[in-house]
Amino acid sequence: MLATIHSTVLVGIEALPVQIEVDVSHGLPQFAMVGLPDIAIRESRDRVRAAIRNSGFEFPPHRITVNLSPADVPKAGTSFDLAIAMGLLATSAQLDPANLPDTLVLGELSLDGGINPVRGVLATALAARKRGITRVLVPAANAAEAAAVHGVRVLPVTSLPQAVQAVTNPETALVSLPEPPRQAARTAEVDLAEVSGQLLARRALEIAAAGSHNLLLVGPPGTGKTMLARRLGTILPPLVVDEQLEASAVHSVAGTLRAGSGLLEERPFRAPHHTASHIALIGGGLIPHPGEVTLAHHGVLFLDECPEFGRRALEALRQPLEEHSVTIARAARVVTFPARFLLIAAMNPCPCGYRGHPTHPCACSPVQVTRYGMRLSGPLLDRIDLTVRLGPIPPDALSAEPGESSSTVRQRVIEARHRQRARQHDLGVAVNGDLRGGTVMKAAQATSPAIALLRRASERLDLSARSHHRVLAVARTVADLEGHPRVDTQHLAEALQFRS
Ligand SMILES: Nc1ncnc2c1ncn2[C@@H]1O[C@H](COP(=O)(O)OP(=O)(O)OP(=O)(O)O)[C@@H](O)[C@H]1O
Ligand SMILES: [Mg+2]
Repeated sequence: MLATIHSTVLVGIEALPVQIEVDVSHGLPQFAMVGLPDIAIRESRDRVRAAIRNSGFEFPPHRITVNLSPADVPKAGTSFDLAIAMGLLATSAQLDPANLPDTLVLGELSLDGGINPVRGVLATALAARKRGITRVLVPAANAAEAAAVHGVRVLPVTSLPQAVQAVTNPETALVSLPEPPRQAARTAEVDLAEVSGQLLARRALEIAAAGSHNLLLVGPPGTGKTMLARRLGTILPPLVVDEQLEASAVHSVAGTLRAGSGLLEERPFRAPHHTASHIALIGGGLIPHPGEVTLAHHGVLFLDECPEFGRRALEALRQPLEEHSVTIARAARVVTFPARFLLIAAMNPCPCGYRGHPTHPCACSPVQVTRYGMRLSGPLLDRIDLTVRLGPIPPDALSAEPGESSSTVRQRVIEARHRQRARQHDLGVAVNGDLRGGTVMKAAQATSPAIALLRRASERLDLSARSHHRVLAVARTVADLEGHPRVDTQHLAEALQFRS
């Protein structure tokens, strides 16, 4: 007796179809599993056996073979448990197999027959829709993710008996979809108004948010670098629908979506510690797992104390910064993860932190200073559009009126983004930070005095071709914040002062 159940396996952030074939035949009782399963899957034999017995079903006392097909794709994790158990029940006449063909099954079993959440349910629901499968049977804790995909019926279940009932008689068995709790608004916790002074850095933060430009803050300790960076998320526009789906798919695969929650609404803000390994930052592992750059997809990646990150990790940022994705090659396969993030980095000007400070002497030797600066390579700096040097804040600035609030600045950012999208719709570039050589001239509509200024500045500052285009893109954002249709000299002049 053979039963086949649809399920999926995660490859990168995509879910690929897997058929779980369960065969039960006469012979000595044994339970074999084939089709490149990893250790976690082989352990699922024990979970499935216990769950079936403890749910009041009978475990078939026969020779059982489970094949996970296609057999050449390595499979990992615990998400096949439920499908294997249901296959076994179908082969032993405890579940009507006629109900299985249009259902995709995903879930981890606990020994008592309960169903635990798994990773990648959103990607699985998308895969089901693509393959024309109309129903997905998923752990109730993941149901809100799956429900974000229209055109697929979600059957949320909390136990094996309920899963059996859900496929046999979906109308009566249905647990209602939990109301997804709103993701707590991170914006409520901190506000730009708390940052006193530092007008130039505040301005750079606004430009960075408006055009999605990478930003580097340099300054002595205690000047507000970390404070400013942590508030970047509060002035960014909310995720649009497509971005919500893409960012949520990443976090669903990584297992970092909050249990029971639907799609992400706030942009992700990732601030890995500088001791994070290269793999933690970029992604990797035997079965490739997304790294911080991917978890920051459509959001912010904040590298505090940036020179302290390993050179190798920093250099590896070049690919995602340029291509908005990372490719991880492993013996088994090559996986590409999306990685479109806004980079904000903070650093001191030297190891002691006080170089260039008006009152505090710097204790570093020139060699130390040079070596420190060199930890950020030229190619990396070339990809940073805005650099700001912060100075110490005078005491009267600290007690002055609070600055503009995040919501005021965010409004301007949102308007500037609207202008970019409307103008660059045909170019297929939603934000100025994504403008490249071919598109930046068209989008900028620079006046002739502005073009002349850029040419002079390029020669004087010896800008690379990339920097030349980046300056123009930043100027485009400055003009968009003002609502100016064309880039003029004052916009370019402001953009140039942020070039390191
Ligand atoms: N511009 C500012 N406005 C108000 N408070 C500030 C400002 N700058 C610094 N502070 C105060 O100093 C504290 C430290 O600031 P922050 O962590 O941002 O410094 P930093 O520039 O990141 O320093 P470090 O180089 O040591 O990391 C803040 O928690 C805040 O209390
Ligand atoms: Mg800091």
